[in-house]
Amino acid sequence: MPADALTATSIHCSYGAVQVLFGLTMRVAPGETVAVCGPNGVGKSTLLRVLSGLLRPSSGTVELAGADITRVPAVRRVRLGLSTVVGQAAFGSLSVLDNLRIHGYAGSRTDTRHGVDAALAVFPRLAQRAHQPASTLSGGERQMLVLAKALVQRPTVLLIDELSLGLAPIVVGGLMEMVRRLNATGMTVVVVEQSVNVALALADRLYFLEKGTVAAEHTAAELAGRPELVRSLMLGGQA
Ligand SMILES: Nc1ncnc2c1ncn2[C@@H]1O[C@H](COP(=O)(O)OP(=O)(O)OP(=O)(O)O)[C@@H](O)[C@H]1O
Ligand SMILES: [Mg+2]
Repeated sequence: MPADALTATSIHCSYGAVQVLFGLTMRVAPGETVAVCGPNGVGKSTLLRVLSGLLRPSSGTVELAGADITRVPAVRRVRLGLSTVVGQAAFGSLSVLDNLRIHGYAGSRTDTRHGVDAALAVFPRLAQRAHQPASTLSGGERQMLVLAKALVQRPTVLLIDELSLGLAPIVVGGLMEMVRRLNATGMTVVVVEQSVNVALALADRLYFLEKGTVAAEHTAAELAGRPELVRSLMLGGQA
């Protein structure tokens, strides 16, 4: 059996004296789309920070394609093929093109040029706006830019925190289609989502967190047509 694309095993993680993750274990198979769901403050973004290397867990391991990367710094993880997309952060005064170029920081100049070309090929709408300051993009276009920035790094595993936050349903629909297309090219995807509908529509499998650990794990097929179960899983320990 091939190694998992990404594995987190028995992760404990704290901010100072406050522990947030308590022995969390999850795995993502190559080419799979997995969603991490759960109520506000349960530790979803914290988990992504541990996976991307921005936070060091107090114990537990993170593996990328079977290699232990627990102690590998975030920038090197990008080089190893693990990229992260967070929220709607963009650099306002920089043009769309410069925003993409600076995201090639982990690779060579040629890698960056190829990565930028590849990202713009996925988002022709951004290509048309290449020289426009990022601050003048619409909300949906900004989110495209956020996704495109990760593509510059040509990841094998893409982590996405809150793709849908604050965006109109039609815009979210367009972004979901992009994520599906990326997944169809073989990219492994982990989405953290407040919207269970987005999570159900995108993911093959969903993890539901409660009190900083995994309370339940289901395939999207198992949850189809079971809104009551989904509702109770989303409420976690706060029901
Ligand atoms: N830098 C930090 N310092 C201290 N506590 C933090 C820090 N970041 C997050 N926390 C706390 O850790 C807990 C988990 O936060 P996290 O952002 O992982 O939740 P989340 O599941 O992503 O929530 P949301 O759905 O609201 O985004 C929260 O109680 C939060 O206040
Ligand atoms: Mg969060």
